[in-house]
Amino acid sequence: MTLQDTRTAVVTGASSGIGAAIAVAFGRLGWRVAVGGRRLERLEAVARQVEEAGGKAVAFGCDVAEPAEIHAFFEAAETQLGPVEVAVANAGGSVPLLLHEISVLDLERELRTNLLHPLVLARRAVPSMRERGRGDLVFISSESAVRPRPFQVGYTAAKKGIEGAAQALRMELEGTGVRATVVRPGPTLSDFARDWPPSLVRRALAAWKDWGVQRHLGFMPPEATARAVVCAVTAPPGTRMDLIEVMPEGPKEVRIS
Ligand SMILES: NC(=O)c1ccc[n+]([C@@H]2O[C@H](COP(=O)([O-])OP(=O)(O)OC[C@H]3O[C@@H](n4cnc5c(N)ncnc54)[C@H](OP(=O)(O)O)[C@@H]3O)[C@@H](O)[C@H]2O)c1
Repeated sequence: MTLQDTRTAVVTGASSGIGAAIAVAFGRLGWRVAVGGRRLERLEAVARQVEEAGGKAVAFGCDVAEPAEIHAFFEAAETQLGPVEVAVANAGGSVPLLLHEISVLDLERELRTNLLHPLVLARRAVPSMRERGRGDLVFISSESAVRPRPFQVGYTAAKKGIEGAAQALRMELEGTGVRATVVRPGPTLSDFARDWPPSLVRRALAAWKDWGVQRHLGFMPPEATARAVVCAVTAPPGTRMDLIEVMPEGPKEVRIS
């Protein structure tokens, strides 16, 4: 590994699940990683794992629904770790309610977290990446972008929106050396639905089964998506990976006769 290969990355939503796995995977590459999220103790534990893996890490409290906090996170990361070359917009979440049941305030928060945050992060990261002629923006989407589910109307709008935004941004960045990759995970074992009341989980699962969008209960470890992110951001300059979908294998063989 040369010094040039040692990059500085920011990862939002790195206190658990996919974001934590991405941060640790960057640590294994020997990178400097700033991890952001609201649960500071969890972030500090992830930062220690990044360092044990061989990287350098700093943890910052940050609510990505607030653009000013994304800016503060980014600036603190650059001050402590140097110019950011890799920005991963991973923080996200959803509330499993029907559209007419969710309050406008919660809907707005869902859109700020899942759609506005990746755009604000990318907007902040792009100028210095363009100047250096190198950089990676990674947007963690969801299979909901292409296989929408009831009870996830706002979340689906956000994930579909970010995939469209990445496509348009790629045009703005063509020829600059800055890449914009969408990584689109399927069902993953994480803290994602940790706050969902069991009655809402049962209701949503029944509807998803009816609509054929939850064919089985196969889940992936967060590391599966982290591997895809590493693959995209370590692709040689001059090539790019625009979209990677990562899905869990089904639990049993389907025999088609
Ligand atoms: N799990 C799945 O089945 C699945 C499938 C497809 C896509 N995804 C996507 O994968 C990404 C990671 O989710 P995950 O599955 O790893 O779930 P997770 O373990 O719950 O991780 C979500 C992360 O986002 C952070 N976060 C949420 N709201 C935030 C906010 N307002 N400000 C700052 N951080 C916030 C959480 O940190 P704090 O709580 O500490 O703030 C946490 O670190 C999300 O974008 C999600 O949409 C997940």
